[in-house]
Amino acid sequence: MSFNLLKGKKGIIFGALNEQSIAWKVAERAVEEGAEIVLTNTPVSLRMGTLNELAAKCNAPVIAADATSVADLEHLVDEAMKHFGGPFDFALHSIGMSPNVRKGRTYDDLDYDYLQKTLDISAISFHKMIQVLRKKDALREWGSIVALSYIAAQRTLYGYNDMADAKALLESIARSFGYIYGREKHVRINTVSQSPTPTTAGNGVLGLKDLMEFAESMSPLGNASANDCADYVLTLFSDLTRKVTMQNLFHDGGFSSMGMSRRAMRTYEKGLRFEDVHEHQFPFGTGDNKEE
Ligand SMILES: NC(=O)c1ccc[n+]([C@@H]2O[C@H](COP(=O)([O-])OP(=O)(O)OC[C@H]3O[C@@H](n4cnc5c(N)ncnc54)[C@H](O)[C@@H]3O)[C@@H](O)[C@H]2O)c1
Repeated sequence: MSFNLLKGKKGIIFGALNEQSIAWKVAERAVEEGAEIVLTNTPVSLRMGTLNELAAKCNAPVIAADATSVADLEHLVDEAMKHFGGPFDFALHSIGMSPNVRKGRTYDDLDYDYLQKTLDISAISFHKMIQVLRKKDALREWGSIVALSYIAAQRTLYGYNDMADAKALLESIARSFGYIYGREKHVRINTVSQSPTPTTAGNGVLGLKDLMEFAESMSPLGNASANDCADYVLTLFSDLTRKVTMQNLFHDGGFSSMGMSRRAMRTYEKGLRFEDVHEHQFPFGTGDNKEE
């Protein structure tokens, strides 16, 4: 159902790789709500993914950019402004990747070159994107910038690895730049902290299926899907949220406020307790992961 929430608005959407991507759903819904969009991703992702299908569906140009490259971002923003005929209204940062996670390096054995890449791709790229947008005065008054985050920024979740540090930095950038851009041009900057979601990046997270089941059993409203996330992000691009800025907004069915739910407790009672797991399943310790 369309509410014409974004009628007349224009924006750039980073990070749609395939139909599972959260950015893909945001792009589809943004267009449904009346927005005009430009799509972007890395040259490699354009070759590997299916972004061109989305572009055709949304009648949107695709402009390649590696979000860690300021030169690429400058080119992207210049081209987007040409396409839109001037400044635009919103930008979505839906980008994350950890070489440490990909290569199976645990948090107590990080490769520091990989860590730099994790932080650059997953967090500093957000700063670069905003800095380029601001220097080029690419956003209109009361524009809106959103990035996607995860609760591992606040709480330790087994296996999330150096992405937790990246998300903490990402959320901090939203606050620090939110002050500057808000004060100057009423541009708001927020992060949306989303439930675990089965996407390409999500599937890189250790034990995503179990994590999703656990989060589902802990959340009174259940996990938020990528489609739910798209709906929420649209409200942040719309004029209905003009005074919301510098926030990390949990979009997780209530998970972030829970300590223990009845459902999770029951699962725990029925299943193996900690000592059972260790005595019966792993008599010599699990040995599979030092982070255990
Ligand atoms: N899936 C989840 O469980 C979950 C939960 C909370 C938050 N998030 C966040 O949502 C965002 C989107 O991820 P997703 O789950 O839709 O997965 P996804 O794999 O579909 O999207 C990740 C995107 O990042 C892009 N990317 C990687 N390196 C890049 C670079 N250098 N420059 C530009 N783009 C680059 C990829 O090409 C891809 O399109 C990420 O920030 C992710 O951390 C995901």
